[in-house]
Amino acid sequence: MTLEPRVAAMLAARLPVETPSLLDHRSAWTGHLPFAMWLVAAHRPRRIVELGVHVGVSFCTFAEEVQRQGLPTTALGVDTFAGDAHAGRYDGSVLERLRAHHDPRYGAASRLFQGSFDAAAAMEPDGGIDLLHIDGLHTYDAVRHDYQTWAPKLSPRGIVLFHDTAETHGDFGVWTLWAELPARHSHFTFTHAHGLGVLAPGPVEDPLRPLFDATPAEAAQIAALFEGFGARLLAATPRPPKPPKRRWPRPW
Ligand SMILES: C[S@@+](CC[C@H](N)C(=O)[O-])C[C@H]1O[C@@H](n2cnc3c(N)ncnc32)[C@H](O)[C@@H]1O
Repeated sequence: MTLEPRVAAMLAARLPVETPSLLDHRSAWTGHLPFAMWLVAAHRPRRIVELGVHVGVSFCTFAEEVQRQGLPTTALGVDTFAGDAHAGRYDGSVLERLRAHHDPRYGAASRLFQGSFDAAAAMEPDGGIDLLHIDGLHTYDAVRHDYQTWAPKLSPRGIVLFHDTAETHGDFGVWTLWAELPARHSHFTFTHAHGLGVLAPGPVEDPLRPLFDATPAEAAQIAALFEGFGARLLAATPRPPKPPKRRWPRPW
């Protein structure tokens, strides 16, 4: 593939081909991890907040890239760590394992908060978040509430990520909110790995222009390239061994 010049420049600035130190087959986010690396490197957020951490795959990849880039960023990951109707319910061992991975590596500048998004919002000052990732319950009402609650906390250069914009089955409703929002704001949509919406409610800074100002040809290349990088990580994600097939005794 011959790259469009602006796409080539975007990847020359940060080619996200490393394998993150935390991969987990339970995460639906793995396909977007290369984009998370590129975005942190390009945007250099001073404050990152993630709503919906679960096993920590997206959150720890943000934190790892912050370290790789040597940024003075602080990060907050919020979750009840009890699960929800879409992610399923889980027990305390999930947070215990995540803390064992996260705290020694990133604990100096990154915090895991066990509680509701609304409780965390009450403690977060307005106007300071440069990168907000909304990945909680994916019903329309829940994601709309999360966006409306946290939008005032964005800085003027704040970027918002919405996961699962491509899921239209059952009561998944991020796609509905996503269809309502972008008309007013700069945006980019990935459709792989359940979809990721990237929104810039404020003015777009130069390093992010190749993404938000992409022509249709550039956008198609960006989407295909990041999908390809993500596919490599999906293939590299360890899977639990399949349980042996049950062999029923033959009735004769
Ligand atoms: C889709 S998972 C997050 C996936 C994660 N970002 C990853 O990298 O795999 C959604 C998480 O949001 C949490 N959650 C949903 N609604 C919540 C709320 N209102 N307050 C706190 N946590 C919530 C659930 O406990 C669940 O762990």
